[in-house]
Amino acid sequence: MTEKQTWFITGAGRGMGVDIAKAALAAGHAVVATGRNPEAVSRVDGEADDLLVVKLDITSTEDAEAAVQAAVDRFGRIDVLVNNAANFFGGFFEELAPEQIGAYIDEMLPDIFEGRIESGRVFDRTVGLDGVPEGYRAMADRESIKVMVKP
Ligand SMILES: NC(=O)c1ccc[n+]([C@@H]2O[C@H](COP(=O)([O-])OP(=O)(O)OC[C@H]3O[C@@H](n4cnc5c(N)ncnc54)[C@H](OP(=O)(O)O)[C@@H]3O)[C@@H](O)[C@H]2O)c1
Repeated sequence: MTEKQTWFITGAGRGMGVDIAKAALAAGHAVVATGRNPEAVSRVDGEADDLLVVKLDITSTEDAEAAVQAAVDRFGRIDVLVNNAANFFGGFFEELAPEQIGAYIDEMLPDIFEGRIESGRVFDRTVGLDGVPEGYRAMADRESIKVMVKP
């Protein structure tokens, strides 16, 4: 194993967060497993000397500050932040409610288009309308993370 690190994982009560927490523990690291429902996080992540379960709803600054403090109190520092918690609306475009689509667009895109999030961290290639097929090919081949279409 490389040097022992402290991993701080959000959304560790379900989905990939659980797998990441278990993998980090199995690799010998200390893990701070957080979630909105700490009982659920404890249920799936179990118990271990190197595991600290803490309540953290990522929309709450108060929760975030308390969780970081708890992590530092227990392990002294945080080496790896796994910013895993997220909402996912799966389905066909026509079947999603306008509010679901609107919430995503209102929350995410203005920050990108108005320059508050550096777009290079989200989009790493820009194409015109003619370049859409090439853009999808580049994402499928993992040459690009996200392709922005600028008609
Ligand atoms: N799975 C994939 O193929 C895939 C592909 C690309 C990217 N990703 C990204 O990888 C991450 C995990 O994916 P997943 O498939 O494991 O997702 P998931 O099964 O939907 O799990 C989402 C996790 O986020 C937590 N969460 C949601 N809102 C939260 C909040 N306000 N505060 C704290 N926790 C919150 C959920 O907790 P609750 O149990 O409390 O709801 C749950 O633990 C996401 O960021 C997703 O966008 C996933």
